[in-house]
Order: sequence, then C-alpha cells, then structure tokens
Amino acid sequence: MISDKMRDSLNRQIELEGYASFLYLSMAVWCDDAGLSGCAQFMHRQSAEERAHMLRIFHYMSEVGVRAIVPAIPKPPESFDSARSMFEQVFAHEQKVTKSIHELIGLANAENDFSTNHFLQWYVAEQREEEALMRSILDRIKLIGDGPMQLYYIDKEVEAINQAEAAAEAAGGAEA
Ligand code: FEO
Repeated sequence: MISDKMRDSLNRQIELEGYASFLYLSMAVWCDDAGLSGCAQFMHRQSAEERAHMLRIFHYMSEVGVRAIVPAIPKPPESFDSARSMFEQVFAHEQKVTKSIHELIGLANAENDFSTNHFLQWYVAEQREEEALMRSILDRIKLIGDGPMQLYYIDKEVEAINQAEAAAEAAGGAEA
C-alpha cells in the first residue's frame, strides 16, 4: 500500500503526462496545417508515447490498490510561432516532467516506498532519452537555421529521426 500523499502525487503525474499527450497532439495538428508532414508524424508518435506513459501510472496504481483519477486536461495552445519555438516548448515540458519524476522519487525515498521508487526508475531512463532527443533536434535546427527556406530541411531531418525512433521501437529497443 502506498501513502495518500504518494497517491495524490501520482495522480498529478497522470495529469502532467496527459497534458503532454494533448500538447503534442495539438503540435501535430499545427505541423500538419503548416505542411510539415515529418514533424506532424513525429509529434503524433510523441503524443501516443505520452498517453502510454500516463496509462502506465494507471496500471501501477491499480496494482498497488489505490485509486487513479482521470484528470481534466487543460486546453493546450493551438498555434506556435515557429518550428523552433515549438520544439523549445517540447523540451521545456520534458524538463518539467523530469523534475516532477525526480520529486516523486524523492518522496518515495522519504517514505521508504521501494515499490514506487522501482516503478519510477523506468521514467528516469525515458526522460533522459527524451530530453536528449529534443536537444539533438534543437541542435540541428540551430545548425540548419529556421527561416522559411530551411523549414523543408528541418522537416526532412525530423522525419528521418521519427522513422529511426519508430524502427527502434519496433525492434524492441525503446519501450513506449
Ligand atoms: Fe512522459 Fe515525455 O514525459
């Protein structure tokens, strides 16, 4: 059994992962509308991954016998200033999620909650990978530039990254 405080904290993490899924879905729609099909595919896959992150917490809470709450998700922004600005927002949100996961582990440590600590270790690795991925995309955007003429090349880069990520997942190299 986990504490009420941990239950409430896990419910807040559900909301954070759910918001990430909706935010990335909104970004996918914006990319699609802007003709950035590679970025749209990438954001759709990220959105699905975030939903899977959220569902993992539901399943864990069920396993340890506490009630998970389906959250009200705040409406994400509908439009973004540029592809670069959008990826900067993704990176910032991932950093926020990482900080939250680390705080949850701090709580698990304080409460000698070894089970939740063990459960959360998967998220530590996942966040490290996601932050590295977003950092590498932002580095490429800085190299290529993000003027209208460069958008085509950014989109192709992100499309290639998306295909590589999808192939790694299919091969079992990266669990959703
Ligand atoms: Fe599940 Fe990328 O935060």
